[in-house]
Amino acid sequence: MTLKKVAIIYNDDMDMMLGKEHNIASWEGVIDTAKTVEAALKSEGLSVAIIPLRDKVEGFIKTIKLENADIVFNLCEGAMGRSVFEMNVAAVLELFGFRFTGSGPLTLGLALHKARAKGILAYHAIPTAGSFVISTPNSELPAPNSFPLIVKPVQEDASIGIDKDAVVKNMAALKKRVDYVIKNYKQPAIVEEYIDGREFNVAVIGNNRPKALPVSEIDFSGLSENNPKICTYEAKWVTDSPVYLKTPPVCPADISKELEQELFSIAVKAYNALGCRDYARVDMRMGKDGIPKVLEVNPNPDISPNAGFARSAAAGGLDYSQLILEIVKMAHNRYQDTEQ
Ligand SMILES: Nc1ncnc2c1ncn2[C@@H]1O[C@H](COP(=O)(O)OP(=O)(O)O)[C@@H](O)[C@H]1O
Ligand SMILES: [Mg+2]
Repeated sequence: MTLKKVAIIYNDDMDMMLGKEHNIASWEGVIDTAKTVEAALKSEGLSVAIIPLRDKVEGFIKTIKLENADIVFNLCEGAMGRSVFEMNVAAVLELFGFRFTGSGPLTLGLALHKARAKGILAYHAIPTAGSFVISTPNSELPAPNSFPLIVKPVQEDASIGIDKDAVVKNMAALKKRVDYVIKNYKQPAIVEEYIDGREFNVAVIGNNRPKALPVSEIDFSGLSENNPKICTYEAKWVTDSPVYLKTPPVCPADISKELEQELFSIAVKAYNALGCRDYARVDMRMGKDGIPKVLEVNPNPDISPNAGFARSAAAGGLDYSQLILEIVKMAHNRYQDTEQ
């Protein structure tokens, strides 16, 4: 099977999403990523089609079939405005027999569910922050050992539902935030021990022997005291906001060889534990005990040229179009291996 044509799919559904923070800037971000991936693949000599997924799944599938591409580049982070449908898109691709980049539905679903993912990581002795989940508003909450804590929607991504009030310092604030998350995001809230240390992102690439790329660190030192040192939705997406500008990534991170090796090893273990394919990014924070804790595994990380994954790849010697081509080739080889 030769590799000539790629169909890039992405979810064009930001206007259907829950929560009040979505704005045109983050919506345009998804389309921009599809366009930069298209440009990268074209520069590598491939022919490309871009197919948005809005609300008509049948038409979407028909268009992918008509394009008759060798590989589908899956940039869908959800569907119909819901992050939980991210796995369904991969499941449908699988059912229709399309060959596609990135992780399969089980991995996407598990990784999005922060509590389930932590269960699997814990089984593999990979350190994570202590946590509990609350599913209904006005619940009796367990008395935590200590504060601060951080409250997040249990099945979201991209810092959706994470703003400066997500970090809570007392019982009253915790109750209020848990109820806010459950009502506003229509899902349980996960309450986690707040890890007050350096934040690292490790990009991992590959299949049989996945490899970690140079570590990236978020520099929170410019943030004022009244902002918690976390990547809120605003810090991630609102590019002209002070918190975005004051949380620059540093890649490669200024860390010792020993710490680098430790982060690499945890990241690759976490990647394997969740069954990631082709590429993923593992987010970690350094605990006060000197042990890095995995916050989450992102099997479908942002791969736009200005996001962390591409930055780490560039620091590791892979320029943008090489990275995108490499992802397509890894997926392509996987199907060659299984179909012969
Ligand atoms: N337990 C935690 N301790 C400290 N900061 C956290 C914790 N969990 C999340 N954060 C902060 O919130 C950001 C987003 O959380 P994360 O779990 O990665 O969710 P998302 O899937 O939305 O990216 C992280 O990058 C980090 O800055
Ligand atoms: Mg994250």
